[in-house]
Amino acid sequence: MNKNPFFGRDILSSEQYSKENLEILVSVSREMKSIVENVGSTDILKGKVMTALFYEPSSRTFASFIAAMQRLGGSFIPLQGMTYSSVTKGENLEDTVRTFACYSDVIVQRHPEVGSAKRSAAASTVPIINAGDGVGEHPTQALLDYFTIIERFRKIDGLSITMVGDLLNGRTIHSLIKLVSLYKSVKINLVSPDILKLPSEILKKIKKRRVKVNEMDRLDGIVAKSDVVYVTRVQKERFTDLNLYEKLKHYYIITPQLLKKAKKTTIVMHPLPRVGEIESAVDDDPRAVYIKDQMRNGMYTRMALLSLVLQKNKF
Ligand code: NCD
Repeated sequence: MNKNPFFGRDILSSEQYSKENLEILVSVSREMKSIVENVGSTDILKGKVMTALFYEPSSRTFASFIAAMQRLGGSFIPLQGMTYSSVTKGENLEDTVRTFACYSDVIVQRHPEVGSAKRSAAASTVPIINAGDGVGEHPTQALLDYFTIIERFRKIDGLSITMVGDLLNGRTIHSLIKLVSLYKSVKINLVSPDILKLPSEILKKIKKRRVKVNEMDRLDGIVAKSDVVYVTRVQKERFTDLNLYEKLKHYYIITPQLLKKAKKTTIVMHPLPRVGEIESAVDDDPRAVYIKDQMRNGMYTRMALLSLVLQKNKF
């Protein structure tokens, strides 16, 4: 029996996923997909409890973690409106986390501050899964995005992956780029307005891995050469100047017209929610994978992660 590298571990950054670990996650995610498609659920996490501790808005991440836990036979404490909790009385994050660590076996946390998941992990006696720490990271989204690309292309090497939009504040980008740059022959195209460029420390990190990275402002020229077009929302909540946000929010718009330039095999991804950066006329295009594939894969990959973090002998 191989050692399960995720058992009892916190999931804080996508830098924790090695290529070998990703193989495990992909194979368990496929197993989960087949369980859901064939029988709907299993009881491998019967008796286990997950706390979903969300200090920032969420639809998909929150609900897919809960669906994942339920389909694994476990149960959950759903905490979405943290304004109704003792936080409004002034309780700090550490005390809140210590509390839920007493009631549950794993804590899935979303919080507006970079590094908050790491802080919680230091305070908690149970594993913390980072479901978004401000403009920091979103490692479980990266996992579902990676799985979506792998299920379509069966590889990352050789692909031309174009990331579009708010690369400065988009935590899904920060996490996904660290994952795909593990593969040396990937080509990464970063498309953003100058003031929303990828943070330089992340760019430095991936350049050190010697993958090909190109930064640009224009989208139309690169679409025809891309295998993946990963679109993101301009992150309004991270702006202090709302006039600037208004100017930038529709800097790029994916239209059926633009996609005429793309290959037949290209996929268009988006972590969602979208607020106008992909026209709804694109939704029925077979290349659009943001509705069905990414969302279903979010549940399968989170089932995989929960089962690995909570079960020693999963492998
Ligand atoms: C993303 C997030 O919260 O970072 N949403 C998600 O989890 N699917 C992207 C976003 O909010 O733009």
